Amino acid sequence: MRRYGWLVGLALILGLGWFFFDPPRFWLNLTKQVEPTPETGVQLVVQYDCRSCHQIGGVGALKAPNLQGITQRINDPAQMTLRLWLQNPRAVKGNTAMPNFHLSDSEIEAILVYLTQLDRQGQTR
Ligand code: HEC
Repeated sequence: MRRYGWLVGLALILGLGWFFFDPPRFWLNLTKQVEPTPETGVQLVVQYDCRSCHQIGGVGALKAPNLQGITQRINDPAQMTLRLWLQNPRAVKGNTAMPNFHLSDSEIEAILVYLTQLDRQGQTR
């Protein structure tokens, strides 16, 4: 048994590395559970500094696409592509500069609810 101590150690290091660098979705959902409301979305956009690259609600940098109207694209039913962008940007575009923020499902929901609200407001203005 003792001779395999190093193996247990290795497995532990690999396991910890996995959780750190590529935390599984169940873990994100467990540790980063938020109320999926537009208000939470506002906070998350600030917390993850999305505006350092994107314009959101007309404010922010132009290093990445302006997100205005993004939730109203007709070729994205149930916002599947948007969700994937937020879950794992490289899954949509392999060489993208968009970082993976390891967002939980409820965080993604909150951001999308906020962006949807912004787009609706933009329409009536
Ligand atoms: C370091 C810069 C950077 C940050 C920070 C960033 N993004 Fe992005 N994002 C990008 C780039 C660049 C693209 C365009 C990807 C491409 O076409 O390669 C993108 C694409 C997107 C898209 C898809 C846009 C489209 O036209 O389909 C969404 C949605 C998005 N980002 C949302 C967010 C949100 C929400 C945040 C904050 C949680 C965020 N991004 C933070 C750089 C960034």
